[in-house]
Amino acid sequence: MPRLTLLALMLLLASPPDRAAPDLGVPSKTGLVVCTSSPACDAGASVLARAGNAVDAAVATAFALAVTHPSAGNVGGGGFMIVRTPSGELTAIDYREKAPGAATRTMYLDADGKINRSLTNAGYLAPGVPGAVRGLQTAHTRFGKLPWKDVVMPGVLLAEQGFPVSAGLARSLNSALQRGMAKFPASVAAYGKPGGGKWAQGDRIVLADLGRTLRAIATDGPDAFYKGWIADRIADDMKANGGLITKSDLAAYEAKVRTPVRGTYREYEVISMPPPSSGGVTLIEMLNILEPLALKSKGLLTAPALHLQIEAMRRAYLDRARHLGDPDFVEVPVARLTSKDYARTVAATIGADKASRSADLGRDIVTTPQEPDETTHYSVIDRHGMAVATTTTLEGSYGSHVVVKGAGFLLNNEMGDFNPKPGATNLTGDIGTPANVIDPGKRMLSSMTPTMVVRDGKVVLITGSPGGRTIINTVLAIVLGVTEYGLTGREAVDMTRMHHQWLPDDVTIEATGVSDATIARLRSMGHRVRTQGRQGDAHSIWVSPDGTPYGINDKRTPDSKASVPAHLTAPTGGQ
Ligand code: DON
Repeated sequence: MPRLTLLALMLLLASPPDRAAPDLGVPSKTGLVVCTSSPACDAGASVLARAGNAVDAAVATAFALAVTHPSAGNVGGGGFMIVRTPSGELTAIDYREKAPGAATRTMYLDADGKINRSLTNAGYLAPGVPGAVRGLQTAHTRFGKLPWKDVVMPGVLLAEQGFPVSAGLARSLNSALQRGMAKFPASVAAYGKPGGGKWAQGDRIVLADLGRTLRAIATDGPDAFYKGWIADRIADDMKANGGLITKSDLAAYEAKVRTPVRGTYREYEVISMPPPSSGGVTLIEMLNILEPLALKSKGLLTAPALHLQIEAMRRAYLDRARHLGDPDFVEVPVARLTSKDYARTVAATIGADKASRSADLGRDIVTTPQEPDETTHYSVIDRHGMAVATTTTLEGSYGSHVVVKGAGFLLNNEMGDFNPKPGATNLTGDIGTPANVIDPGKRMLSSMTPTMVVRDGKVVLITGSPGGRTIINTVLAIVLGVTEYGLTGREAVDMTRMHHQWLPDDVTIEATGVSDATIARLRSMGHRVRTQGRQGDAHSIWVSPDGTPYGINDKRTPDSKASVPAHLTAPTGGQ
């Protein structure tokens, strides 16, 4: 035997290969709540432990996130929830914010017609009419099993009794207090450290006004928020500071129950959020384009595979800009955009190894990136298989940075998701197409993509992410990882992510996991590629082929967790 081979054999015998089981995530057949902030995941799991179902746990997690993850968890914002019952019934709940009645198409333009981003970034003109509390009520009324008060209470207690600040929350709060919140005394009063100074890991934070608001929602019901004293506080604050939201805007707000969009990818069914999210339609269009292109045969994260994905993204995001908006206001061709026939015609325009130019593809609408990472997604499953995917947001981190005086909660800055300047669609990524211009009472277009993948009638994956327009591509990567490449949920969530959104005509790719040679090859095809830090925060659940659900927290966020119900009471049967 040659000496080297012998040496290799001896080394192998001395230290047998690591046979530790692969990390698949946190297994649990008694339910899971996977989210970005561990006290909030635990709050949700405590509701599962009291025999609440997945929707009870999702609602509890939402109110808890409003306390422990103030940059995105909210009562002053909105979101989307997809519910799948154990019998396979599918529901999408839309609690997206709406433009106030006094909003106008040009409200964010200055005298020269330029977009004034400072008005949508922060302050009293930035918020849409909040939808979160009505949306959670709608989900609970349809599907919940425990009393409303019981599912709001964990959030109330976290706010009233306080909770330990994590390193991540300390960093995030200190930065928000120093920057966006500094102009708003009620925000500093709510979130500043009592006695002054900076928050540090391990400090206890108590949010008394938020606790009062949540307790009123728990005991008097959601009307306390939309018609009672909380509505008065919002309307008074708006009036005093030049904002538009009135008591009648709040009283008129309704969450909508919609039909999820559905597609297939080989033997899998993909279920996601319909308009006013662009997420589901764009995701399914990209999957349809890619399905016949045999990505797996080109390898995982190789230049030829990434090229095809970029070209699918470019084309689907152009359709997003062209067609998508609030379906209560504009006709959205959902059936056509999600059909296999349409995808075939789109795929036929993709060159084998040459990048297309985005501006050429969308010449008719172009007249002349990165979004912040502050939305949050969580996934829940209960022991009966009821599944919930929820993405919720204030839009930017800490939304408008405005805390409603005396009510302790942050208002969103979601109005910035409308097209701020009608007609202005340009190479830097502004979109001015008619579908998503501002109109009173309209919902602004979203990219939030809470999604489920089902095979043979059983849930295989529950996923979603923050990240503005990158969300849809983060979800695409995870869905392709599981369906096309046969990865486990953990591998698919950990995998390197990439983003292209039609315009600007740039590709961003997470710096780990793709070689310099692959990036050089993509550049030689004509793609403008940049590496960057992390993309998204996709707290997911994957069900292995043997039927075990695994909680897959996204390790890109250290505070995240997959929580299991600790003390499960006797099963009650049914949902
Ligand atoms: O609805 C949307 O698409 C955006 N408002 C989401 C914002 C977001 O994800 C910000 N960052 N992570």
